[in-house]
Amino acid sequence: MGVSRLAYLGVHATDLGAWTQFSTDVLGFEVCRDSEPGLLYLRGDERHHRLTVHVGDSDDVAYVGWEVASHEALEAAAGVLEHEGVEVRPGTPDEVNERRVLELAHFTCPHTGVRMELTVGNETLLYPRFTPTRPLSGFLMGDLGLGHVVLLSSDVQAAAAFYVRTLGFGLSDYVAAPDGAPVGAFLHCNPRHHSLAFFRVPMSPRKLQHLMIETQSLDDVGTSYDACLERKITKSSLGRHPDDRGLSFYFRNPSRWLFEYAWQLRSIDPANWTTERYVIGHGNGWGHAGLFDPEA
Ligand SMILES: [Fe+2]
Repeated sequence: MGVSRLAYLGVHATDLGAWTQFSTDVLGFEVCRDSEPGLLYLRGDERHHRLTVHVGDSDDVAYVGWEVASHEALEAAAGVLEHEGVEVRPGTPDEVNERRVLELAHFTCPHTGVRMELTVGNETLLYPRFTPTRPLSGFLMGDLGLGHVVLLSSDVQAAAAFYVRTLGFGLSDYVAAPDGAPVGAFLHCNPRHHSLAFFRVPMSPRKLQHLMIETQSLDDVGTSYDACLERKITKSSLGRHPDDRGLSFYFRNPSRWLFEYAWQLRSIDPANWTTERYVIGHGNGWGHAGLFDPEA
């Protein structure tokens, strides 16, 4: 037993007004009516929310929410983490209410410093139905979870091994630099090729590199690309990654970390998966020009 899927992402942001407009005009996520002063709930499917944006004096990740199947699974995961010497604490009643879950425990990731939350019973809201705020088919979430989140770590192998040992993730692949040094590690917890990844980016100003959202159609990626071009917020051209095989591009949000909108990602069978290795620049994939350029 371990993590079932990525449930939600919480971030701090300095400009909630800009995030409200960005969510509506670019992401296509609804701003929930029960958002509060200083807290935006953003909705992308039938879950109450998938993103929370808290007003703060930084523009980076606040927490990453992972879903486990049951109270028993939560207790078991906490026990394994404690055995590794990682302190696991229960969420306060206010945190449980704010996240709209039944149960919450959290720990600090020893490899990134990011607060990781394990949750049971995330609130679902059937009506009113989720309706994208601009013409989009919608997002592939559901049993696969929110998407994938990529965090920065100086030792991606050690970070990946920790999540394999403690929370039941499987290692999808490594990405190495041309000299063979691992620069990326990609982990799955269900048929989505990866839900969590670590990347080594020296001198990054933040812990969160990107959040990938999978769209229902190729046109959703295309019209999103147009919307980002118009606003001059694209970070990369269109491209296809060699490992998850999705067609995607990257764009900046008001906090300047990246979203990736992707279509037709590879689906895997976790029970029969064998770890793969890719080397940057060895004829793998195409496009995504500009992705690793330093921030302007
Ligand atoms: Fe990605």
